[in-house]
Amino acid sequence: MDFQYTEEQLMIRQAARDYAQRELIKDVIERDEKAEFPTQHVKNLAELGFMGMTVDPKYDGGGMDTVSYVLALEEISKVDSSLGVIISVNNSLVCWGIETYGTEEQKEKYLKPLARGDVLGAFALSEPEAGSDATMQRTIAEDKGDYYLLNGTKNWTTCANSASTYVVIAQTHPEKKHRGINAFIIEKDTEGISLGPHENKMGMRSSDTHSVMFTDVKVPKKNRLGEDGFGFKLAMKTLEVGRIGIAAQALGIASGAYERAVQYSKERKAFGTEICNHQSIAFKLADMATDIEISRLLCIKAAWLEDQGKPFGTASAMAKLYAADAAMRVTTEAVQIHGGYGYCKEYHVERLMREAKLTQIYEGTSEIQKIVISRSILRD
Ligand code: CAA
Repeated sequence: MDFQYTEEQLMIRQAARDYAQRELIKDVIERDEKAEFPTQHVKNLAELGFMGMTVDPKYDGGGMDTVSYVLALEEISKVDSSLGVIISVNNSLVCWGIETYGTEEQKEKYLKPLARGDVLGAFALSEPEAGSDATMQRTIAEDKGDYYLLNGTKNWTTCANSASTYVVIAQTHPEKKHRGINAFIIEKDTEGISLGPHENKMGMRSSDTHSVMFTDVKVPKKNRLGEDGFGFKLAMKTLEVGRIGIAAQALGIASGAYERAVQYSKERKAFGTEICNHQSIAFKLADMATDIEISRLLCIKAAWLEDQGKPFGTASAMAKLYAADAAMRVTTEAVQIHGGYGYCKEYHVERLMREAKLTQIYEGTSEIQKIVISRSILRD
């Protein structure tokens, strides 16, 4: 068993760390307060190759492995997990699906600009009445011969406004239930698409989240992704990949809060000594460090399995389940260690705590991860 990262993986981690600690930190509090999309940072991170980091270089991607992707996402999310989710959605929920199931024509037209980061992608699966129960798709894609006619509403779509390419899941053959669902690549400026207001979220406020309404939207047949009726499986496979990204994001949020708590506990004095010398604080730090280490091992294991071409769906669900819950525990303790200062924005930990909460909810709640894991146990 080799627990060493390669030179290349370490270089990628360092590049992400440098950018996050040098640039993202400067305006992260302001972006959070104003819920402002980080347009310039996305451009800069695209130049560094992070927007399509796992995509094959023949489609203009970075050709990096999934372990490197986890290392980079951890570093970015330590400082700004809104950028963490923007990178994660583009790489995993959008580029991965098109690269794995798309035609050469779709890859040329859509994957290349997405992988370069010239444009962003969004993934539209959830609906007002189909969140956790994703088979209950009410968005209809009627087969009209040489095109599909889409009608319906999607919820909670990350980057819905900033993206120009959507992967949309919709029902074509309701009588076949989930086996009648399709996935489509849809350009955002297609006639009939409109957006709901920017959701005023508790955390990750600078990634833009909207509902997307489809009214008689014509989608060319050639924009279907995968075989007819493959859409639900495509969505499930895509989420297996996506959950590694969210787990890495949760890991980053936890590490960011932990590092700040360690630092603060070495500086702050109470009862005649630095507070880290009190066992009540030192034991918290020990629990936090252990939680983070377990999260990291689970993230890297899931990423490694994907890199080896082995099944990784259960591992990615375990990584997301554990890392998200750990992020909530660690950030809550980080606020506690900071006392009153922790409740104020300048110390960052209250924001990290708000961000941690979302990792327990999106790309499948913690309860959904338990469904995925328990089914795999009972099936084997
Ligand atoms: N890979 C391939 N196929 C899969 C699969 C997988 N991982 N998981 C399920 N399937 C297939 C099954 O084999 C089955 O197909 P067949 O009947 O042909 O064999 C079919 O899918 C249905 O499977 P289930 O009976 O297991 O479906 P279910 O309804 O009982 O539950 C679920 C599935 C795991 C609960 C699933 O609905 C799920 O993951 N729900 C959560 C959805 C989710 O994560 N939403 C978040 C959206 S993305 C987001 O957050 C927005 C963003 O922008 C970040």
